Amino acid sequence: MGQQSRDTGMFRTKSVEQSIQDTEEPEHALKKSLSAWDLTVFGVGVIIGTGIFVLTGKVAKENAGPATALAFVAAGIVCALAALCYAEFASTVPVAGSAYTFAYASLGELPAWIIGWDLVLEFALGTAVVAVGWSGYVRSLMDNVDWHLPAWLQGPDAEGGTFDILAFILVLVLTAVLVVGMKLSARITALVVAIKVTVVMIVIVAGLFFIVGDNYSPFIPKAVTPESSSGWDAALVSTIFGYEPTNFGVMGIFTAASVVFFAFIGFDVVATAAEETKLPQRDMPRGILGSLLICTVLYVAVALVVTGMQHYTELSTSAPLADAFKSVGHPFYAGVISFGAAVGLTTVCLILLLGQTRVFFAMSRDGLLPRFFSVTHPRFRTPYRPTILLGVIIAFVSGFTSIDELATLVNIGTLFAFVVVAIGVIILRRTRPDLHRAFRTPWVPFVPILSVAASLWLMLNLPNETWFRFAVWMAIGIVVYFLYGRSHSRLGRRTRSLGTEAP
Ligand code: ALA
Repeated sequence: MGQQSRDTGMFRTKSVEQSIQDTEEPEHALKKSLSAWDLTVFGVGVIIGTGIFVLTGKVAKENAGPATALAFVAAGIVCALAALCYAEFASTVPVAGSAYTFAYASLGELPAWIIGWDLVLEFALGTAVVAVGWSGYVRSLMDNVDWHLPAWLQGPDAEGGTFDILAFILVLVLTAVLVVGMKLSARITALVVAIKVTVVMIVIVAGLFFIVGDNYSPFIPKAVTPESSSGWDAALVSTIFGYEPTNFGVMGIFTAASVVFFAFIGFDVVATAAEETKLPQRDMPRGILGSLLICTVLYVAVALVVTGMQHYTELSTSAPLADAFKSVGHPFYAGVISFGAAVGLTTVCLILLLGQTRVFFAMSRDGLLPRFFSVTHPRFRTPYRPTILLGVIIAFVSGFTSIDELATLVNIGTLFAFVVVAIGVIILRRTRPDLHRAFRTPWVPFVPILSVAASLWLMLNLPNETWFRFAVWMAIGIVVYFLYGRSHSRLGRRTRSLGTEAP
């Protein structure tokens, strides 16, 4: 079968050569301007965000205590395994669309559609979650200078709030930045990432001086049964194996890991920019693995410092990093950290939004979504149509939605994408052993299988409620595919016109 796309109905695959060729059609081509450095900056820019700045305090207080650092290690291992698979795919199929494109080249059209639909959920809701988190930090800074928004404009998470005007405006401004062009946004990102990393370093280095050994005892608090646990909130794993759900203890570390996993989301976004990378074969693996490594080290250090500064039962759940400094009598550091968090979350939002539009663009270019969305801007060469459409929708979602439950939904979607990519690595090695792979996942199929198992394990630690919502979203996606994508698929039409339709 070799170089051709295969048509076997909804499992038809698009050949790697075809994927690359499609990107070379002038009106659908993106500008190739990114280097390994730009990619690493993008990675760090999107990875460090709400996860470390907000969720650390919440999981330390509710699920894992000082062992939150171990939860970060566990989530980091899951991501590193997935990154090894992503890196092989991204350096072999350097086309916009990330896991979606990879799945199209290996598993077939329906699995590709499913993964694309899933990534839309991940990025869209992820953008909304971070925008709302950003708005919280900005409001807290505004409070410092005694400047307050009317209650109803503070968003549904605030008392008496309805519409989060700050989150709404942020998403619209970032949408405009993306329409104007990739290079501009990469420059803004580089500056903001520098501020964010500096602030995280301040937390680690300054915080070291305030660590009290007693706060680490017990390092893994004893397991307790939560008072208000209902079947709906329980982790799927406890429902399956019929044990009582608990917080803390060893299982608490995994619950915490399935939540702080959000803090790692983003390295996969680096892969979505493959088509805009100058030398994807060399630079993608460097960008993905490099940014992941930097963030894991920083997270573990931050978790250890913060739980050492303040007893885990006293940590704040909204601004734990800043509040830990307030608790030791250093409000100045707290202000600097809040400022850095607010600035840093801007890039997270920007890059999630970017990943989102690129997946949508790739799906539209393949005809699975209307082709109208895949015409790039004549001057800026950016996919401006999906950028504007999705930007406006996400702006409204972030204006009207509370963040809590969205984050776990984002996690389950992302972990599902990891599973598909890892399986794809194994399949593509068998179906296309001839392809040049600048980066090869080590010990195939062992590492991909381990990656699948690790991702599934974190998914099982998420609540039943999250699984239900995820299932509903995916069911809608399958209906859309059968009503639109299947008949409009460019690959389907192309192979039909060549008379190669399977009987
Ligand atoms: N990893 C990103 C964050 O923590 C999505 O905000």
